[in-house]
Amino acid sequence: MDKFVIKGPSILKGQVLISGSKNSALPILASTLLFDKPVVIQNLPRVRDIDTMLNLLKSLGSKIEFFNNKKKVRITKTKKQKYFASYSLLKTMRAGILVLGPLVSKYQKSIVSFPGGCVLNGNSGRPINLHLSALQKLGMKYKIKKGGYIYAKSNGKLKGKTLKFQTISVGASQHLIMSSILSNGKTTLHNVATEPEVVDLINFLNSAGANIKWVGKRICQIIGVNSLKETNYTVMGDRIEAGTFCVAATLNKGNLLIKGFDPSLIKTELDLLKKTGAKIKTVEDTIHIKGPQKITKIKHLVTKEYSGFPTDLAPIFMVLLCKASGRSSITENIFQSRFMHAMELQRLGAKILIKKNKAVIEGNTNFIGAEVMSSDLRASAALILAGVSAKGTTVVSRIYHCDRGYESIEKKLNKVGASIRRLN
Ligand code: EPU
Repeated sequence: MDKFVIKGPSILKGQVLISGSKNSALPILASTLLFDKPVVIQNLPRVRDIDTMLNLLKSLGSKIEFFNNKKKVRITKTKKQKYFASYSLLKTMRAGILVLGPLVSKYQKSIVSFPGGCVLNGNSGRPINLHLSALQKLGMKYKIKKGGYIYAKSNGKLKGKTLKFQTISVGASQHLIMSSILSNGKTTLHNVATEPEVVDLINFLNSAGANIKWVGKRICQIIGVNSLKETNYTVMGDRIEAGTFCVAATLNKGNLLIKGFDPSLIKTELDLLKKTGAKIKTVEDTIHIKGPQKITKIKHLVTKEYSGFPTDLAPIFMVLLCKASGRSSITENIFQSRFMHAMELQRLGAKILIKKNKAVIEGNTNFIGAEVMSSDLRASAALILAGVSAKGTTVVSRIYHCDRGYESIEKKLNKVGASIRRLN
């Protein structure tokens, strides 16, 4: 298992190019199962989850051709279409479940393993009940059989329906949107997630002739079409990676030009960073951010669905608040186990108290290097940033979590002044 050995503290200065969004690219790739014609997708991030999704598509019979250092792919349907998505491919990645609906919608059958992914919800795991019950309403029938496989089918095409998600879910919204576009009639989805990654998926599908539109703030209407046409689509930049580098600059008295990303998509985060003292200018797809000498606390940070503060950046902001002047808190409203890295940050000197879904962070911490272990994707990025600002050597183990979702984070940080070595 690879580790990062980080020597700190470092002041970060220079340019960072943001990669394509993992959480946007994954549903876009899954939805290519709906096509008969070839699809070209550009700006794919070079991260492990994308490799896993491409391997999954390959195992289902899609032909994958790579261009431009694997950042561009052409995906073509072949005559060897399969309907079985195995545990070995889904166990590490939650987004693998997104092939279920497209397979049933297009071919009326599929057998898909229960997915894995970051453990963010304590004992309840990462449920898919919202996905399954909504697909059922469109006419999918399913049984869960031996080995945790979902055997699903439909009698003919799925049928358009009006339905409301009980909880706002990014994945279930994406899954239902993509599964409805070839169905008979009109589907109206209420309480849909409005995260930019949902919007990017809709833009991709509409670019191929789907008929999807917003008819209310959280209401999406999909009129079924018979088929999709060829398309060439560029995935949006990764807002969580952009947010991570903005925090890195704020934390380490940095001066970064962050490029390749639409700053308006992280307005909430940038406004918060301004409150901590960062100086921020945005022009088109560039963020110029300078970290303050002294970081001001954020009294109370609360995670929420978009356009609220994103749960994926909570661990990263926690590192910043450890160094802020005075006491701050973070309340997590999306996942139960978002604070698993707090204990590891304490090894570096942080003072954090967790009570249920609230973390109270004491601030004024001078991190001192230590050995730490990452527990999930965003936790690993948080530990890396803490290591970059810590005095001495920090060793972060289990960085396979990080490799799932951040493209070459160590290379990007080293280019702007950090000292991170990957140990195999
Ligand atoms: N939920 C259910 N049942 C379901 C689906 C979700 O109870 O069937 C619950 C979840 O347990 C959670 C809440 O609903 O408490 C919201 O979860 P959501 O479905 O929105 O999350 P997701 O689609 O599984 C995506 C991202 C996550 C990100 C969340 C929230 C992908 C591949 N993953 O997950 O990203 O945290 O939305 O914004 O898009 C990450 O990239 O590190 C990551 C975890």
